[in-house]
Amino acid sequence: MFFAEKTLEPPRSLWQFSGVKIILAGGTGFIGRALLRRLLDDGHDVVLLSRSAHPFTGFHHDRLRTVAWDGQSPGEWTRQFDGADAVVNLSGAGIADGRWSAGRKRLLVESRLKSTHALVTAMLGARPKPQVFVCASAVGYYGDVPSGEVAESAPQGRDFLADLCGQWEKAAMEAQELGVRVVCARIGVVLALEGGALGKFIPPFKAFIGGPLGSGRQAFPWIHRDDVAGAIAHLISNKHVRGPVNLTAPETLTMRQFCDELGRAMRRPSWLPVPGFALRLLLGELAGMVLTGQRAVPAKLAQSGYAFKYPHANQALAEIFAHA
Ligand SMILES: NC(=O)c1ccc[n+]([C@@H]2O[C@H](COP(=O)([O-])OP(=O)(O)OC[C@H]3O[C@@H](n4cnc5c(N)ncnc54)[C@H](OP(=O)(O)O)[C@@H]3O)[C@@H](O)[C@H]2O)c1
Repeated sequence: MFFAEKTLEPPRSLWQFSGVKIILAGGTGFIGRALLRRLLDDGHDVVLLSRSAHPFTGFHHDRLRTVAWDGQSPGEWTRQFDGADAVVNLSGAGIADGRWSAGRKRLLVESRLKSTHALVTAMLGARPKPQVFVCASAVGYYGDVPSGEVAESAPQGRDFLADLCGQWEKAAMEAQELGVRVVCARIGVVLALEGGALGKFIPPFKAFIGGPLGSGRQAFPWIHRDDVAGAIAHLISNKHVRGPVNLTAPETLTMRQFCDELGRAMRRPSWLPVPGFALRLLLGELAGMVLTGQRAVPAKLAQSGYAFKYPHANQALAEIFAHA
């Protein structure tokens, strides 16, 4: 059996197993597509919950089934939960997709809380119940931490993102009441060529006008997208890990150091800082997300034996730009 209880066994790794049934919500997104590929490559059966009936035109896989849901209320899709081993939630409206007006903030919060509540409700009716629920969160949970390392035991911050992450994790933790192991993946800045933060850094660097945002002294808690997928696979299979887990690379960098690495990888200078006040004028409160940071360290991933594919930023960026 996939999740057999044997106390003296070392933590098991997912890739020793195949054919596990995993429900994946938000699997059409930037992180979700990489995780989906990883889970299918590992031989698992994935039920993808999407608000779109046909999210991937032209892509078929024997082990992938797409089921429509609305991301907020129970429906036919909950039947898929019978016999599911794991549930992963990566749903939510894009945090950096627009200025944080009151309406936008409401959408950012509600899209995460409602999707999480709907998944937990579906778990309640499942026979048998899934063993594990991995729900996305973010290192924004900690708010701005100007100095020192930030492990999972660090306190919650006080800004909008910290509050959003706190509410989101609380909603996910409700699945614990059902006997489900819950992991809240506090994800850092995810790096891949196709989008995310890097998608915004690349154009100015290409045009020889790249440089750090703001003072450059704020922490930049990065992680390669393959390691996010690998870490989530690890968290699904490792029954000893629960609660909040930082998904960030072991090498901690400041914004300036990251931009220096990016410049080297792109063979471009990193010289032109974008002043904080200009970003605040352009982006409003959203600018705070890039002008502040926290040196989040992957303490629980390290303790549980996760082996990073890209522990150093120069390796991660070299891999990313090898395909550019
Ligand atoms: N990317 C990062 O650097 C990063 C860092 C920290 C945390 N995170 C968190 O990790 C999760 C995944 O990130 P991502 O970058 O992959 O996000 P993404 O590309 O924006 O994808 C999120 C997915 O959520 C679904 N979605 C979008 N709007 C929704 C709404 N209003 N209600 C319900 N579902 C909605 C979409 O799937 P369908 O259209 O198929 O339903 C979409 O593919 C997000 O919650 C994000 O906040 C990301």
